[in-house]
Amino acid sequence: MSAFPQLKSEYSEGFFSIPSHGFLPIHEPLSVLPERYSGIQAIIDNMPVIKSDGSEGYLSVPGGIVEPVLTLEDYCELVKIEEDVFVIAALYRALTFIASAYLLEKAHHEKGIEENYGQARQLLPKTVSKSLVEVANKLGVYPFLDYHYAYALGNYNKIDKEGSFEYKNLKMACAFSGKSDESGFIMLHVDIVSHSPQLLKSIWDFNREANIESLKLNYDAMLKINERRKVMWEASNWRNYNDFRVFIMGIKGNTSIFGSSGVVYEDCFDNIPQQFRGQSGSQDDIIPTMDIFTGVYKYYPDNVLTRYLIDMRSYRPAPVRDFFNDLQNCNYDMETFAIIGLEGLIYLLAIVNEIYLFRNGHWMFVQKYILSTTRYPVATGGTPITSWLPNQIEAVLNYKVDIIQRIDTDYPNCNNSMYCKLKEDIAGQFLVLRNQQMELEKEDYNPDVVHSFNTAVEYDKNVPSAKCPFKH
Ligand code: HEM
Repeated sequence: MSAFPQLKSEYSEGFFSIPSHGFLPIHEPLSVLPERYSGIQAIIDNMPVIKSDGSEGYLSVPGGIVEPVLTLEDYCELVKIEEDVFVIAALYRALTFIASAYLLEKAHHEKGIEENYGQARQLLPKTVSKSLVEVANKLGVYPFLDYHYAYALGNYNKIDKEGSFEYKNLKMACAFSGKSDESGFIMLHVDIVSHSPQLLKSIWDFNREANIESLKLNYDAMLKINERRKVMWEASNWRNYNDFRVFIMGIKGNTSIFGSSGVVYEDCFDNIPQQFRGQSGSQDDIIPTMDIFTGVYKYYPDNVLTRYLIDMRSYRPAPVRDFFNDLQNCNYDMETFAIIGLEGLIYLLAIVNEIYLFRNGHWMFVQKYILSTTRYPVATGGTPITSWLPNQIEAVLNYKVDIIQRIDTDYPNCNNSMYCKLKEDIAGQFLVLRNQQMELEKEDYNPDVVHSFNTAVEYDKNVPSAKCPFKH
């Protein structure tokens, strides 16, 4: 029996169930709302810029969404008595989509030539606000488009029901642009997360008995996750990211879009304006889980950027929040892995390196999908775009240095080939980050230069180079 506090056998609210289903829902989310909510479903069906039948929807025309929203019948009393968590999640998904579409379509259409965004609406009509607040309360989350129940994990439907979670076999139940780049972008998140059951199994195994087999399983899961992560370059063209990005913007931190006070949810919260962070992969659970499991989180610097990361934890469903708390109470860190001996430390280093590769490859996405297409300085989650991700990459690199030093001290003759390779790589990884940070400190930084530091050392071989040039 392990000396660490034991994780519960299940963390669930009936929609997610950790660890058996990883971070995905227990079964496929509803594709459409039950007939009794046909008015809401009709807006969802007719809303995307390009609808599923190929014709243009409300969002293709400035102001096109306004009348359907203002004339939506009030579903609040019906929503109040709803008890099926899959219906509640689908309602939350539909209502948050409609809310973001209504609030942000102006910002989308007014997007300037400098690629900054226009202004959002600041009043969410009561036809949507009351029902939305009701379902959000039932789920215990904020009444604003999130990653778990709304945009990503609770939004997939399989095309071939017997088929895999490969993103090409998945489609979005609700969409903004309705184009393949939006679907590829967010369905690849589901594809990646479909490998989380193995990741969580390894953590539960380790929690029961800290041994090499569980670390090997964990490492293999991270390899698979990183392999799928690289597919983003083919799943969604970075040049088209702005087609849908503005619709996932949050209120908090995005004052130039939403103003400084926030959004009034008509007839809710005493009509006091509210601010919530936007939908973002930073609400995903794989990387934070790995940070807590390996002890990376102890290397987060004590600064405002780290506080964003911790704040982001509150944007997750209750079972995920509970799991993170319990995992953190295990207090795992380098000492935990050192007890297993040299192999434990090398596996720790290799696993932390996979966290680095994920973060660095992901930072490359941000350089292309965002920095190359807009100078707008705030991410959808409300964090500063050029400094937040490097903050966490630096924490991971610092931890790797300490693990290497520990191995060198305790095992001075270690010539394990994986270890030697990981040790050799670290200086170059620091250099890439430093060069990028120096370029980004310039007011007129060049995103292509930032990105080129990566391709020069080819850390991410799946990045399209010659065929899809980054210069534009
Ligand atoms: C083109 C693809 C992607 C882009 C452009 C992108 C963009 C971003 C941005 C801008 C942030 C900063 C936080 C914020 O929104 O305020 C962020 C954070 C984050 N994203 Fe993504 N993301 C992408 C794909 C993914 C995927 C596929 C995952 C995981 C399945 C993911 C997981 C995360 C995580 C965990 C963070 C928090 C940062 C950290 O812990 O260091 N992202 N992303």
